Amino acid sequence: MQSKPECVIAIYPGSFDPITNGHLDLIQRGSRLFDRLVVSILRNETKEPLFSVEERMEMLREVIDVYPNVEVDSFGGLLVDHAAARSATVLLRGIRAISDYEYELQMALMNRRLQPQLETIFLPAGEQYSFVSSRLVKEVISLGGDIGGLVPPTVERRLRERFRRKDAPIEKTAREHVTQDKKK
Ligand code: PNS
Repeated sequence: MQSKPECVIAIYPGSFDPITNGHLDLIQRGSRLFDRLVVSILRNETKEPLFSVEERMEMLREVIDVYPNVEVDSFGGLLVDHAAARSATVLLRGIRAISDYEYELQMALMNRRLQPQLETIFLPAGEQYSFVSSRLVKEVISLGGDIGGLVPPTVERRLRERFRRKDAPIEKTAREHVTQDKKK
């Protein structure tokens, strides 16, 4: 059996396109549980995100600077390899509802098969955010709805800007994007 590392580093991976208050709640709670928490954005060439990885990292940095043991980075390839590169022993994921659980369990078991020393820890989402997803937030704001309190103010401002610029190429992607991205 492996002994407990002196400093427990956890990775909180995801798309974060964009970060919601549900994610932020998990970051805050994760920052209290682990010595270091690394919020890691997947660089996924196959998905068409609304925000670039750099923009998502910027937004994350803006909201996590109050947590000194939390940092942001990005990764490509296998999550287990990224965790090893960051000396992390824990993967942190949030569960909003039972429907999340099947997908999360599948990923956790696959990651365990790939790297048995790496533990996935699930935290239940804050109940006030259990219906919040990046996908729904984008859909609501793209249709002119109110997303106040669901995302940090800086993210809301950027979302408004993105959906306002009708002629910008990203706008096309933005509208297509809300129907493409099934989960977050
Ligand atoms: O927020 P998301 O989009 O649900 O996050 C999914 C994420 C990034 C955790 C998942 O897609 C991932 O870990 N991708 C990295 C590729 C990988 O390691 N795949 C095999 C593990 S199941």
